[in-house]
Amino acid sequence: MAVASVDLIGIGKRFGATEVLQDVTLRAADGEFLAILGASGCGKSTLLRILAGLEGADRGQVRLGGEEVGHLRPKARDLAMVFQSYALYPYMTVRQNITLPLQMRRLSALQRLPLLGRLAPGGRALRAGITADVDAVAGPLQLSALMERRPAQLSGGQRQRVALGRAMVRQPAAFLMDEPLSNLDAKLRVEARAEIVAMQRRLSATILYVTHDQVEAMTMADRVAVMQAGRVLQVAPPQHLYDEPASIDVARFVGSPPMNIIPALLDETGMVELAGHVLPWHAQGRAGARVMAGIRPESLVPRPGGLPATLKRVERLGAEAVLHCALPGVEDTVLARVETAIANGLSPGGTIPLMPRRVLLFQEAGLRMECRPHPAATPAMEGALG
Ligand SMILES: Nc1ncnc2c1ncn2[C@@H]1O[C@H](COP(=O)(O)OP(=O)(O)OP(=O)(O)O)[C@@H](O)[C@H]1O
Ligand SMILES: [Mg+2]
Repeated sequence: MAVASVDLIGIGKRFGATEVLQDVTLRAADGEFLAILGASGCGKSTLLRILAGLEGADRGQVRLGGEEVGHLRPKARDLAMVFQSYALYPYMTVRQNITLPLQMRRLSALQRLPLLGRLAPGGRALRAGITADVDAVAGPLQLSALMERRPAQLSGGQRQRVALGRAMVRQPAAFLMDEPLSNLDAKLRVEARAEIVAMQRRLSATILYVTHDQVEAMTMADRVAVMQAGRVLQVAPPQHLYDEPASIDVARFVGSPPMNIIPALLDETGMVELAGHVLPWHAQGRAGARVMAGIRPESLVPRPGGLPATLKRVERLGAEAVLHCALPGVEDTVLARVETAIANGLSPGGTIPLMPRRVLLFQEAGLRMECRPHPAATPAMEGALG
């Protein structure tokens, strides 16, 4: 497998008056699984199509393995695309579907003819090589027993594996996958995710994987690029994205239930004042500055001395429960994720003190600000922070 790095450098693209990509710079290293995560219409597919050469960019460069490929036609770029619709040939068997790309590459027009092709010079040996390569791909994808079926006789997950097989058999420099699992039901999708990741590890393949599903991006990728309205907001490993989002937009996009974003103030010593309470978190900023506090639902814990929350509703998820709460002076519902045992002791209408174990701070405009636990925290709060 020719493994290759993929670089997009300063890519810009307009469709008419709409600027769909603005200065997008992204790099997938050799053998890296890079997810591109973003809401519908943010430009993900356009980006992949530019990479594949199916669409031209207005600005910027595409490099494969360090080489500029802007002038190369799609076929010459040595990339395999796997789309949401698998686009299998319905009248061909699984074997024929997987074999076709190799026949197109390795056989001459004469050698490809059904009967005469076998008699054409060199045809027999080339065909044997193709069969061996197809079988080598089919085995690990567990397609060997399905080779004579047609797509209509396969489950969604099996079809998806055929589409993968067809992409893999060419041994491309990199795979471009555009929402390849969105046709599958929840259970199949979990299995298919695992299969793609296993394939990627086995081949050390470079993959650019487009999805609007944050769970998919977070569970599969080495790094995730979060896109919004044609821009890349942040590129980071999944856990880093979750723990250290660079902006409110990224913080909101990643995590379920979503991060609480609560308007707050800095007091005269730089402490964070939220819902009328001073929290033991400190930031550099002028007194009275309006900021936004970001608190993950799992880091709001019921503790004495916490924020006075009124319980509105308990949402039970089995082992855990999500408390839907109101804070004084805070418009949005605040969510806390707790163990079910804790939720069982609570009833709607009651008050619970909720202490944030970790607070992220953002400027009103949305960019992240530095914020640290304050050394002069009150004893009650220190206890809560442990
Ligand atoms: N050929 C085209 N002509 C005009 N506008 C287009 C064209 N292709 C895409 N667009 C617009 O460009 C924007 C980005 O489209 P794109 O398909 O890249 O989004 P996406 O992130 O893949 O969305 P989705 O998750 O829905 O697939 C959209 O607003 C879309 O309407
Ligand atoms: Mg798309």
